[in-house]
Order: sequence, then structure tokens, then C-alpha cells
Amino acid sequence: MARLIFVGPPGAGKGTQSKFLADAHQIPHISTGDILRESVAAKTSLGVQAQGYMDRGELVPDQLVIDLIRERLSKPDAQSGWILDGFPRNVAQAEFLDALLSELHQGCDRVVNFDVPDPVLLVRLLSRGRKDDNEETIRRRLEVYREQTAPLISYYESQQKLVTVNGDQSMDEVAAALNQVVA
Ligand code: AP5
Repeated sequence: MARLIFVGPPGAGKGTQSKFLADAHQIPHISTGDILRESVAAKTSLGVQAQGYMDRGELVPDQLVIDLIRERLSKPDAQSGWILDGFPRNVAQAEFLDALLSELHQGCDRVVNFDVPDPVLLVRLLSRGRKDDNEETIRRRLEVYREQTAPLISYYESQQKLVTVNGDQSMDEVAAALNQVVA
């Protein structure tokens, strides 16, 4: 299973587990959040357009992330597998991705939904302390997740691609559970 989408609320462990699995399988870990943060730090046009949305805990406009995913998935290292972490984030992005993968003659093997209760997420994010990890922004990110991203669970359930992993365990336990569902 070399093409995976990771879905879950902020702090669920998508980035942490993506890194483990991408290293183990030698496939790229494609995180829209990381790409956007690098763009903000480098003050590129994309970064300048994205920064305000990210600081408020809102999704950046779809077209910005759609363009960067189209470019990233067309690169040679993404032809034999990838983990998408943080994309898609709403149904419009998921529909775009379905069309892009069909154009690229690729398919997604599994969508992993990381299930973690909100109070655990809050504790994890407050102890990490990234720029958008203050309490007000975390609460907005959680609301945005529930309103815009959680509908992807039924979207991918209906495509029979969804698997749910209990993310409220130690990192090693989550990694073991993940290995079972993507093996
Ligand atoms: P993004 O970077 O995707 O942030 P996020 O979804 O809020 O995800 P996080 O990185 O906070 O959580 P994670 O699930 O990766 O957890 P992690 O492994 O880091 O997006 C940031 C912003 O960019 C968005 O708000 C939006 O503005 C914009 N954006 C990005 N993609 C977009 C898109 N597609 N469309 C529009 N806008 C987009 O772990 C968190 C912490 O918990 C770490 O400290 C970690 O060490 C710890 N931890 C992890 N697992 C465990 C465990 N099992 N036990 C204990 N601690 C753990």
C-alpha cells in the first residue's frame, strides 16, 4: 500500500506517523502544512497569501493548495508512492484529488482516519507550541476540522477506502496499528 491519505484533527499524529512510515517505505511524505510553513518562512508569494489564514487557524483558499499538490504529485519521486498529510481538507479538495489522480493514472490505496479525543489534542498541541498552537487558534482549527474536514470520513467510507486508527495510544502503538491496516 504505497499511496496513503492521512486525515484527522490537529494534533492527531498525522505528521509524526507519516514520517515513520515514509522512512520505512522510502516514499515522500507530502504535508501541505509543512510546505505552506516553508513558504511563509521564505516569504514567497504563496507564503504571503497563506500566512493570515494559517495564523487564524482557517484553511487557506483551495486554489493555493490545489496548485501546490498538482505540482508536487507530478514530480518523479511521487510516481511510485506517497503519503498525503493534511490534504485533502474538504470535499472540494477531495474531488480535485480524485480527478488529478485519474489524470496521473494513480489511485489512492487507503485513507487513514486518526481518532483522538479533543482534550488529548489540546494538551498535545499546547505542549508543542508551534505558532498556531495557542489555545484560541487551536479551538478554531478544531472547529474548522469538524465543519470542513470531518465530512471526508463519509466521503472516503463510501469509496470503501477508509480505515480508522485509534490515535490515543503511545506513538509506537499507533505505528503498530497503522502497519497492520496498511500492510
Ligand atoms: P497542518 O500543518 O496540516 O496542521 P494540523 O492539521 O493542524 O496538524 P498538526 O501538525 O497540528 O497535527 P498532526 O496530526 O500532524 O500531529 P503531529 O504529528 O504534528 O496545517 C496547518 C495550517 O495550514 C492549517 O490550519 C491551514 O491554515 C493550512 N493548511 C494545511 N493544509 C491545508 C489544506 N489542505 N487546505 C487548506 N489549508 C491548509 O503531532 C502533534 C503533537 O503531538 C507533536 O508534538 C507530537 O510529538 C505529539 N504526538 C503525536 N503523536 C502522539 C502520541 N501518540 N502520543 C503523544 N503525543 C503525540
